[in-house]
Amino acid sequence: MKRMAVLTGGGDAPGLNAVIRAVVKTAVHQYGWEVLGIRDGYDGFLQSGGVIPLDLAAVRGILPRGGTILGTANRGNPFARKAMKDGQEVVLDVSDEIIAAIQALHLDALVVIGGDGTLRIAMEMGAKGVPVVGVPKTIDNDIGGTEVTFGFDTALMIATEAFDRLHTTAEAHHRVMVLELMGRDAGFIALHSGVSGGADVILIPEIPFRFESVLAKVRERAEGGSHFSLLAVSEGARPVGGQELFARSGDAVYVPRLGGIGQEVGSYIDRQGFETRVTVLGHVQRGGSPTAFDRWLATRYGAAAVRTATAGAFGRMVALRDGKVIDISLEEALAVPKRVDVHGDAVLTARAIGISFGDD
Ligand code: F6P
Repeated sequence: MKRMAVLTGGGDAPGLNAVIRAVVKTAVHQYGWEVLGIRDGYDGFLQSGGVIPLDLAAVRGILPRGGTILGTANRGNPFARKAMKDGQEVVLDVSDEIIAAIQALHLDALVVIGGDGTLRIAMEMGAKGVPVVGVPKTIDNDIGGTEVTFGFDTALMIATEAFDRLHTTAEAHHRVMVLELMGRDAGFIALHSGVSGGADVILIPEIPFRFESVLAKVRERAEGGSHFSLLAVSEGARPVGGQELFARSGDAVYVPRLGGIGQEVGSYIDRQGFETRVTVLGHVQRGGSPTAFDRWLATRYGAAAVRTATAGAFGRMVALRDGKVIDISLEEALAVPKRVDVHGDAVLTARAIGISFGDD
């Protein structure tokens, strides 16, 4: 019997369990393959109890569940792992140990569900002979080669609801409400939820802003009789000539964590005489049950990953193009990260309905 393994790496995203379920069901029902689950990203290969059997019973009931039944790890880069050696902290490359563990398991395929970082590791492992197939996951929607990643739609729904809730309290108190949203260096969550949630200003990493321009929009609304405003601020937004703000700097193992620009913008507006409150939506955007769209996409990705793996097409990633699930090379997917097209329809639409990007 042929055998594949599946792992989830990087930050979680709603729909991971739906992919795992689809992988197991497709492998078992359609191809008669055995499936193993690897716990906590690549870490599971080296941990005792880190490899578990995944049969149909193991994935029963997980379709609507957030998180991942396998666990995940943001520090799971096998090419850079922190360890203690002679009382000193060192960074080690344990990829060869992982590859040895994979060989010992006699895997015919490894399905890696992850974002940019996890898929890059998969690509490097593929170059060392591991038969990998990638599935693009992230609420940020920043992976190239695919129109959308699962998790994004759920994050949008949560962010849009946050705007709806901020809207009523903003209006009641005649306040400016700033909502800081995730997305790293891509502004998709802020842009799409800002439009869906009725934001007056949207600040995204792709369009550097000026504080005065944001203030001008708030003032224009107040002068027009709207004594409240909603500001969508992407965590990676930065002023013209300025830098992104970080809540924590990175190192060889952890990527830097963005955060703080919402407060910066809010404090500025408040100092100009418009009472302002700041909400950082944070990990609420990643938690809980996936939307119907994310379950649908995740299931299609999971089934397609198994089709790709059983066909022996490795070093590939499943992707959505023109509404169809296809597979593309991991190189192509990771060559250029996806960013908001500043001349595209979404930005034009927002501008057309009077939303400011703080750049005028
Ligand atoms: O990539 C997903 C994401 O949620 C980003 O939007 C955010 O910047 C980051 O992960 C947060 O990472 P962590 O879960 O490590 O705090």
